Amino acid sequence: MAFVTRQFVRSVSSSSTASATAKKIMVKHVTVIGGGLMGAGIAQVAAATGHTVVLVDQTEDILAKSKKGIEDSLRRIVKKKFAENPKAGEEFMAKTMSSLSTSTDAASVVHSTDLVVEAIVENLKVKNELFQRLDKFAAEHTIFASNTSSLQITSIANSTTRQDRFAGLHFFNPVPLMKLVEVIKTPMTSQKTYESLIDFSKALGKHPVTCKDTPGFIVNRLLLPYLAEAIRMHERGDASKEDIDIAMKLGAGYPMGPFELLDYVGLDTTKFILDGWHEMDSKNLLFLPMPSLKSLVAEGKLGKKTGEGFYKYK
Ligand SMILES: NC(=O)c1ccc[n+]([C@@H]2O[C@H](COP(=O)([O-])OP(=O)(O)OC[C@H]3O[C@@H](n4cnc5c(N)ncnc54)[C@H](O)[C@@H]3O)[C@@H](O)[C@H]2O)c1
Repeated sequence: MAFVTRQFVRSVSSSSTASATAKKIMVKHVTVIGGGLMGAGIAQVAAATGHTVVLVDQTEDILAKSKKGIEDSLRRIVKKKFAENPKAGEEFMAKTMSSLSTSTDAASVVHSTDLVVEAIVENLKVKNELFQRLDKFAAEHTIFASNTSSLQITSIANSTTRQDRFAGLHFFNPVPLMKLVEVIKTPMTSQKTYESLIDFSKALGKHPVTCKDTPGFIVNRLLLPYLAEAIRMHERGDASKEDIDIAMKLGAGYPMGPFELLDYVGLDTTKFILDGWHEMDSKNLLFLPMPSLKSLVAEGKLGKKTGEGFYKYK
């Protein structure tokens, strides 16, 4: 009897899994909003893995820069990956670039897209305005995802009427190289949406992990307090930034030191994240603001992307 019951439960649960799976969306057409550091990388990887991609940003100038960055990045990959077969490399490059188009008008392109991945400025009001607008123009089945590093996915999803088709899809920089994607499921994200995003992440050649809608998800919740402590150590004059970087590379086996990583990530992004967490939990000493970070951002020294952050790159 126990065996029969177990068999019954197994067959019911496997058929319900099969029907949930059958309803998953196979993402073929992707709209990436924001052609900066992250958006350009996401668009590149999606196009290179056989998806049709539209990359959206505010001006044609920004998009031209994004497209040039994608082309340069692809050329570096092709040079390594197709060293033995340059003709196949050229074909891969041409196919990838032909799968990628650009637009300055998100509303006019989302009607035929399966997935919108947003990678614009880390600001809740701006993201809410964008999604509220896109919600009116996107197809019924379209999934919305935010690449936010620090904002609550639920509070972005609430600007739309499709909370069940809304989740976090958190990529890492540089997107073409970093294998991880955090898939963030809010209490309202449907299983179908979640599974569609897991499949999409795998189709990109990434390794998805799952996290609840909790501040910083997995990686940043552990990484940011470490980076902040390195800045405080430098501010106190305990050690130079160069020595802190060398120490963490040679002593802890990290591939980059904290200041190299801060410049790579972007100091504005780091400050936004920590300020947001400080606002939410002002008593937490790990999130207290740091004067040197504040003044570098105020001076426009945002890291590698502006040519200077904690280090100079010009
Ligand atoms: N930098 C990182 O390492 C990293 C890693 C993971 C996630 N993120 C997240 O990804 C997002 C983007 O970060 P980034 O580093 O690529 O920023 P970025 O400043 O390099 O790029 C943002 C782009 O969005 C565009 N933009 C702003 N508002 C827009 C709008 N309304 N419509 C269309 N385009 C708009 C800007 O013109 C800019 O090109 C943020 O939410 C950030 O938290 C960043």
